[in-house]
Amino acid sequence: MQSIIRLLVERPLCSLAIYAVVGAGLVLFQANRVASDIRYSTALEAAKSYSAAVSAIRSYYSSNVVPRAREAGATIIHDYHEHEGAIPLPATLTIELGEQISQRSDGAQFRLYSNYPYPWRSDGGPRDAFESEALTAVESDSAGEYVKVEAREGGAILRYAQAVRMGPTCIACHNSRADSPKNDWKLGDIRGVQSVKIPLLSLAAIAMAKNPSDFAFMIAGVLGGLLIFGFLLKKLQSMFKEERELLVAAEQRNHELAKAKAAAEAASHAKSKFLANMSHELRTPLNAILGFSEMIGGEGFGPIGNPKYKGYAQDINSSGRHLLEIINDILDLAKIESGSFELNPENVDIETLIGESLNIVREQAEAKNLGVDFKTSPATAQIRADKRALRQILLNLLSNAIKFTQPGGRILITAHVDAAGRTVFAVEDTGIGMEPEHIPIAMTPFEQIGSVLNRSCGGTGLGLPLVLSFTELHGGKLDIVSEPGIGTTVTILFPASRTFVPAQRIA
Ligand code: HEC
Repeated sequence: MQSIIRLLVERPLCSLAIYAVVGAGLVLFQANRVASDIRYSTALEAAKSYSAAVSAIRSYYSSNVVPRAREAGATIIHDYHEHEGAIPLPATLTIELGEQISQRSDGAQFRLYSNYPYPWRSDGGPRDAFESEALTAVESDSAGEYVKVEAREGGAILRYAQAVRMGPTCIACHNSRADSPKNDWKLGDIRGVQSVKIPLLSLAAIAMAKNPSDFAFMIAGVLGGLLIFGFLLKKLQSMFKEERELLVAAEQRNHELAKAKAAAEAASHAKSKFLANMSHELRTPLNAILGFSEMIGGEGFGPIGNPKYKGYAQDINSSGRHLLEIINDILDLAKIESGSFELNPENVDIETLIGESLNIVREQAEAKNLGVDFKTSPATAQIRADKRALRQILLNLLSNAIKFTQPGGRILITAHVDAAGRTVFAVEDTGIGMEPEHIPIAMTPFEQIGSVLNRSCGGTGLGLPLVLSFTELHGGKLDIVSEPGIGTTVTILFPASRTFVPAQRIA
């Protein structure tokens, strides 16, 4: 059963064709059944009509014509042709009417016969199997009828037989005649059988007989329909084929894409993991370098002979710190990318934190002769955030601003709570700015805008991506507005759910 269903689904054309053939077969079968039913019942009706008409004539003749003719002195005799002033007996009339019917062109045949024919009626008994069967069969049928369809060369025929029963006038004559083969007839006895044969025409024969051009038209219609159906089937087949090919191709492409995606994800994950491990491994020796260089620079175990060594030790230390910062940035990014960075939220006073961050970079800013301002609205907030991440955001933004602003420029930091209850802080500079199309590049880890910028300003290209990642980890938003030669404003929005204003500040 399942394999049949699969076959139907996989080969829709085949199933369609099977369906059409089976459907057409069923329709033809049904139509043929209905048609043969109709042929049968119309033939039977015709046979009954002939029989009933003959019976009615005989009965009328027997009870109305025969008595009057007798009164008028006429003789009623079977060979009335040979006697002057004679008329036929009811049975003779019936037999002759039957001969008239049988000469008509509709193919019907009528006959009267019995088991007790009069001596001169040599063919008055049954002639074939049907006629013999009918003589006994009508006795057991309540309507006194017997019907059969017989196959013949040139088409089937319907045979109908009806009992001929004795009425009072019939008995009077039959029981009193000397030449009667039987003299004890009773009322209602079956004296004999009258039968009708009607040919059952085939449908085509009927159509042909009625109107040959209609028939030809019908055949032409069927053939035309078949041709059109075949054409459509072929068309459909090629359509289905194309569709299937397209589907297969699309499936293949999807499969390849999925494979490529999985590979890319695996590679990215491996990269993050490698970076995390590497950074961790790098920090251990670096800590030693930092510790020892600090000790040497601070002359912890007594003065160094040549003061140049002290300067070198301090250089080693500051380079090491810079390296540590970079490694920490990489470690953070790798953790964020691999989803293993965990926020450690606490209540952070944003104003205090900005102040602290400014203290860290102030020296750097002064060295470049940059003016730094900090404006904050009275009701500044506290945020529920990871303090280290927040400080990283601020420091990165500030050092970027310092890095990309020419000596004599200005940097402005603002912080406030907006109408929607969100904490907004922004770092604005009068630096070199960026083209709009460079902004997305600046936010991608390890990407840097132009090698010139890179060389003159230094950095790993991790600052902004980290800021973006930390902000998003807090559910916040980052926005950059920049114009080359005019400056850059980076705005950070922290959600209202993380913002709250301490009561004493509102008062
Ligand atoms: C006047 C007398 C008479 C009357 C009335 C009469 N019959 Fe007959 N019947 C005969 C004769 C004679 C024959 C033989 C006729 C022939 O062979 O042409 C005959 C033949 C028949 C036959 C055919 C028998 C055979 O196989 O030869 C049947 C059936 C029959 N009659 C039935 C009836 C019925 C039914 C009635 C009443 C409606 C009736 N008859 C009225 C005299 C009569």
